[in-house]
Amino acid sequence: MCAVTPPRQMSRLSAIREALAQSPQNISLLLLFARECIDDLRVDEAREVLESVLVIDPGQIDAQLGIARVLYLQGDLSGAAVRAERVLQRDPNYAPAHLLLSRVSLGEGDKARAIEHFDRAAQADGTLSDPALERELGRTARDARRPATPAASESSPSFEFSSDPDSPDYDVDSLGEEDFDWRPETFYAPGDPERARVTFQDVGGMDQLKEEIRLKIIYPLQHPDLYKAYGRKTGGGIMIYGPPGCGKTLILRAVAGEVPCNYLAVGLHEIFDPYWGSSERNLHQVFETARANAPCVLVFDEIDSLALDRRNVREAQLRNLVNQFLHELDGLRGDNQRVLVIGSTNQPSQIDPAFRRPGRFDQAIFVPPPDDKARAQIIELLARDKPISHLDTAALVRRTREFSGADLKWVFDRAAELTLSAAIQSGKSRPITMDLLVQVAGSHSPSAASWFEGLKSLPQFAAEDSLFNDVRKFLNAPRSK
Ligand SMILES: Nc1ncnc2c1ncn2[C@@H]1O[C@H](COP(=O)(O)OP(=O)(O)OP(=O)(O)O)[C@@H](O)[C@H]1O
Ligand SMILES: [Mg+2]
Repeated sequence: MCAVTPPRQMSRLSAIREALAQSPQNISLLLLFARECIDDLRVDEAREVLESVLVIDPGQIDAQLGIARVLYLQGDLSGAAVRAERVLQRDPNYAPAHLLLSRVSLGEGDKARAIEHFDRAAQADGTLSDPALERELGRTARDARRPATPAASESSPSFEFSSDPDSPDYDVDSLGEEDFDWRPETFYAPGDPERARVTFQDVGGMDQLKEEIRLKIIYPLQHPDLYKAYGRKTGGGIMIYGPPGCGKTLILRAVAGEVPCNYLAVGLHEIFDPYWGSSERNLHQVFETARANAPCVLVFDEIDSLALDRRNVREAQLRNLVNQFLHELDGLRGDNQRVLVIGSTNQPSQIDPAFRRPGRFDQAIFVPPPDDKARAQIIELLARDKPISHLDTAALVRRTREFSGADLKWVFDRAAELTLSAAIQSGKSRPITMDLLVQVAGSHSPSAASWFEGLKSLPQFAAEDSLFNDVRKFLNAPRSK
């Protein structure tokens, strides 16, 4: 058969050929040439070029995969599978290899395996879409990125429990999941482009918290052998607390942009349900979903209403929910769970102390109003993309002592509003001036002050509860005037 090469292809191939004549060992050019050959069904030529790449660099995975593609096109499915699996041994999340294996499996009549590889490819590469394969599988890349729903429990439903989870009789596994299909609203698989919109770079300060998150989930996934050697497990529990507006919600969102694993954020409205037992069942499903998608970060913002101190709760239903939460955290203690749970609150005194026992939220991290360095970072972040004339960050840092991130945001928003209003009235656009920023900052009082006052009046604070050690340290630290 004589393949008719379109003129565009001819010139493209000959251009690459010419470039290769100048640098015959250039791997990128060789791969490009091979790809063009494959697209043009010149498979023998493609294979020759790809083999020559492997002579230069025997571990080159694109060359390996290219040969696998050639074999697939030649109808050698098992040969293609062997090569593609070799690529996955080097990089288990290499989406193109999973995609090829999906096609190979389909060719072998194994649809279940084809779907498995397709899902792995879609989860590893959030931009992936392959309409032809999707049609054949009856499944879209979007479906594949949705979290797995855990298998239904075989036990029958029963929600009449109220014993303490610390008691050995506590039986939460009696929660049934029949006919129950809880799905999270916010779930990001690795590679989902949406998740990277906010990262740690968008959060000023909080260096200790950022490092703690890296230690508990990012480094263990990057260096599994090292963690094994030191007997450290992946995941755990971190509770972050502090005054309003200091970036707790922001950093929880940024965790999604930072961690290389599944991310599940649960809103309280997804859990609370007026029907007896339903909230506990929802919460159980949340944890089951996290486990089924491990490694996973599970995030609860404003955790206080879920983790209320049972001594202050009158309603049995709410107490059951707290018990349920404690029990679910205990269920994550095993070495293989690989789930990091992060909760945040601005009302730490409301949280049941049982949540701070080892193996639950054993790390409580105080998020204070930003110090000078963190305020400088936040100011720079807020000034990004805004028309500001001669921003003097240091001067603004001096004028915004004890301001939270939200206070700083208010200063920029207010200054922008005033400038806009003046521009509309005068009919002339103008930048936001430093004078105005300083003036607006001067008219604002730090909003976190009342939070500290409220905390100081609490008996727990006076009773030297260790939870507040960092708050006491913060309040007693000398601050620059
Ligand atoms: N550390 C920070 N870095 C950058 N921006 C910040 C920071 N802290 C606060 N901000 C700004 O303030 C806004 C409000 O912060 P956020 O909602 O995260 O506060 P919070 O601690 O969750 O408050 P609350 O306790 O009331 O829920 C953020 O969206 C962001 O614009
Ligand atoms: Mg918040």
